[in-house]
Amino acid sequence: VSAELSHSDSSDEDDYSSSQFPVIHSSPFPSARPIKVDPIEAPESAKEKARRRSPSPSLEALPSKPIVQNPFRKVHNVVIQRPEEVQLNRAKLPVTSEEQTIMEAINENPIVVVCGETGSGKTTQIPQFLYEAGYASGDGIIGVTEPRRVAAISMSQRIGLEMDRPREVSYQIRYEGNVNKDTKIKLMTDGVLTRELASDFLLTKYSVIVIDEAHERSVYTDVLIGLLSRIVPLREKRGLPLKLIIMSATLRVEDFVANQNLFPTPPPVIKIDSRQYPVTIHFNKRTPNESEYLEEAYKKACKIHRELPDGGILIFVTGQQEVQALCSRLRETFPFRPNQTVVEGDTSGRDESRANRRKRFKLDDYAIQAIDEEEGEAASDAEFDVEEDKADQVSSRQPMFVLPLFSLLPSAKQALVFQPPPAGCRLCVVATNVAETSLTIPDVKYVVDTGKTKTKLYDRNTGLSTFRIMWNSKAASNQRAGRAGRTSAGHCYRLFSSAVFNDEFAQFTPPEITRRPIEDLVLQMKAMNIEKVVNFPFPSPPSRESLIVAEAELLALGAVQPVKGKTLASGSRITPLGRTMSNFPVAPRFAKMLALSGQHDLMPYMISLVAALTVQEPFLEGKPEDDNQELPEDAKQRQAYFSQLKKRWIGQGFSKMLGDLMVLLKAIGAAEFAGLTPEYCAEHCLRFKAMKEIRQLRQQLTNSVLLAVPNLELSLDPNLSPPTELQSKLLIQVVLSCMGGKIARRIPASVIAAANVEDKSKLRHAYQTLSLEQLVYIHPSSVLFQDEPEFILYQELFEGNKIYCRNVLELKGAWIPKFAPQHCIFSAPLEEPEARFDGGNGNVICHRTSTCGPHGWPLPSVEVD
Ligand code: CDP
Ligand code: MG
Repeated sequence: VSAELSHSDSSDEDDYSSSQFPVIHSSPFPSARPIKVDPIEAPESAKEKARRRSPSPSLEALPSKPIVQNPFRKVHNVVIQRPEEVQLNRAKLPVTSEEQTIMEAINENPIVVVCGETGSGKTTQIPQFLYEAGYASGDGIIGVTEPRRVAAISMSQRIGLEMDRPREVSYQIRYEGNVNKDTKIKLMTDGVLTRELASDFLLTKYSVIVIDEAHERSVYTDVLIGLLSRIVPLREKRGLPLKLIIMSATLRVEDFVANQNLFPTPPPVIKIDSRQYPVTIHFNKRTPNESEYLEEAYKKACKIHRELPDGGILIFVTGQQEVQALCSRLRETFPFRPNQTVVEGDTSGRDESRANRRKRFKLDDYAIQAIDEEEGEAASDAEFDVEEDKADQVSSRQPMFVLPLFSLLPSAKQALVFQPPPAGCRLCVVATNVAETSLTIPDVKYVVDTGKTKTKLYDRNTGLSTFRIMWNSKAASNQRAGRAGRTSAGHCYRLFSSAVFNDEFAQFTPPEITRRPIEDLVLQMKAMNIEKVVNFPFPSPPSRESLIVAEAELLALGAVQPVKGKTLASGSRITPLGRTMSNFPVAPRFAKMLALSGQHDLMPYMISLVAALTVQEPFLEGKPEDDNQELPEDAKQRQAYFSQLKKRWIGQGFSKMLGDLMVLLKAIGAAEFAGLTPEYCAEHCLRFKAMKEIRQLRQQLTNSVLLAVPNLELSLDPNLSPPTELQSKLLIQVVLSCMGGKIARRIPASVIAAANVEDKSKLRHAYQTLSLEQLVYIHPSSVLFQDEPEFILYQELFEGNKIYCRNVLELKGAWIPKFAPQHCIFSAPLEEPEARFDGGNGNVICHRTSTCGPHGWPLPSVEVD
């Protein structure tokens, strides 16, 4: 699904990873000799400690000041009866010992920044401190935002469990939630809170907003901080003070704290000391290439398991598929049977020497070292390379309990990583970035870091999006390493050389807002009547260029117009169409599709289409849903298999010639008709979780549409009858009018015939787009792959070994001048160009045309309507 669909809570789990692990400061590791760093801080005087914790003068005098009465808090000191086990666990968390400092700072200051290592207890405990201090017993509740929806769900469950009041702790993510009238603590994605702002700018239902994981710098987190910097003083003026707490896993908060534009008085920063045990970093001597790194991770995990003492293993790879592939390989190598008994090491000499080595290893444990395996090998880690070739034959003394962790994994399976593994087993979690800062897995002793991260790159000019496996940042790598030192001294195995780390890793990952298109964000801001987005106090402003692109796109969609009597440069104002669009929680193009579908009963279909396009991967594409299953080996076979499966969806009621979106629509209709069971989905190669999500989104969109257009007759029934032929045609026309720029035309046979001989094979099956130099091709998974209609509309361009169009629709040439006139050159001038889109009732005025796009494609001529 293309980038413009992705909201901050669309669970693109690998999108951002800027964080810093403050303990291992000596990041460059320049020499081969181990560098010693003392990670446990030397004892310091209480005064020193106080100074470090209170960079702002307002905090210096804190301890002696009495708590100031906050009119928003009606009751102080709400008592929670926690289960004993919970009580014991929370007593151990670093944040617990700082409760008083934190709460005093919050009571005294409108805005407080809290920094503490991942796992120190910020997310689970600070909302409870606030609750106990009475912040949810007055007129407002406690709101907590998370950049990832995994965290919103799992943390709300955890806090509810710790407080033993599950009903009072709720979550809300884009499509689902369990907020109820008893909710006192609400965890939500940052995108959800941004949307709430459009209808209640002062956030009056909250007494506190906690922005969690601010170091991740997700787009909506940044924008929320900008907005809240203005809302907090406004609330103060109204006598309804709002507290803002910004939490970060790193100390890199200067973009917030030292930003005069945001906060004229810098907010106090509270640093939570957490015990971090030493972590020894081992670098590989050589850096595996892209096709080898997964294999390398597998080998390293096997060796750790066979040769090193007890302790969990956490492996960072790039995405869901890699997680699943590695999990099944490890499970194959170390099969886990629930009743397996633990075999103690046998008495062979080999094992004895291993035991000796292990002893030596123990002694080394507390040395903090960065080791290049090359030279460090002899000194500390000889055992690690001794049995390289035998590694695959030796059977382990201990079973391995392998668990995947990625954000599309069902929440019940995600929760498994927090539980202790079966007795006698070693836990091995194969994870994406999710485990870097949002979730702390207990008892990890060994981290295997591939150093890679999957990043979605988006070319603003061409609209081309690609996933690239890229090097992580140094800060993120250090964060990953830190996961090994939470409960005891640990080891981090980096599958790349220190030279690569030094030379090729960026210091930090740039904030997301500087890396992605921001049309959806700008539309939300326009709906809050912010005319000049350029002047907004962003913690890190997006580039001027992307702001201009966003405004231009909104202008082309008719969502904004220049302020009367002024040029576009001095800002633009939202139109009625734009306001309607802003009510739909989808990207502006999709919002417009909904806004235009109030005719011919198109709405239920368009809602279903938008839902399907917003949810990731509804079709299984030959990927097994159960992570225990094997992936089909050959990618080509997989594609053929998938395209066949998809064709099963073509049949009565739907013409194949309309394209992939209609197949999607039919899949939804058929699955709902069959009662949406896991069996039906498996049999028809649909992803059950995605289908359920589509149903939820359909419900939510239906509700939003009913709110936005109260007179519309629209039922909440998930069943769909097939659209009529007219409706199918209209649906495509509406889609075309909302993404007119994504048109492509097949290279005509005459051009191929006249071309150079060498060029011919490239030209066959090739399409020309409006925006790209290069030729593009219909993706083999499309139902139109073989039909190759002359004109197509695509949803996304994707770069594989060729550039592919995904989600393709067939167009009639004559529709283009009518519904995408901005891309056409007309033989006669249009008298009233702005009258072409008149707010969405489907009336389109058009003249005779000649050609389309920079290539001058000839189009059939069209009469004036
Ligand atoms: O937010 P921060 O990273 O500072 O820590 P946290 O998420 O509040 O986690 C505190 C502790 O609770 C960690 O040791 C987690 O492993 C544990 N935890 C848990 O056992 N089960 C959960 N569902 C969530 C957290
Ligand atoms: Mg946290």
